[in-house]
Amino acid sequence: MAKLIFENTQEEKEIASGEALHEVCEEAGVPFACTEGVCGTCVIEVVEGMENLSAFSQEEKDFLGDQDRERLACQCKIQGGCVRIKY
Ligand code: FES
Repeated sequence: MAKLIFENTQEEKEIASGEALHEVCEEAGVPFACTEGVCGTCVIEVVEGMENLSAFSQEEKDFLGDQDRERLACQCKIQGGCVRIKY
């Protein structure tokens, strides 16, 4: 199991390792639209634990450019451990 912590609300969610962030983030209030990495609605800031997320998808690279703080919640998966995000 892995853990996702929402900095805004201090809410903590258990999530299976290898699971996509989409569903848990949507439940917590992160807005989504296209769910295909195109619109940028689901941008989250990773405060801690970027190393515990899957590699950047091509869609994320195209939309977010070369940086290491933001991810598209519809695109990434948690690998394990703990990830703290803001939205
Ligand atoms: S919902 Fe459109 S980029 Fe994630």
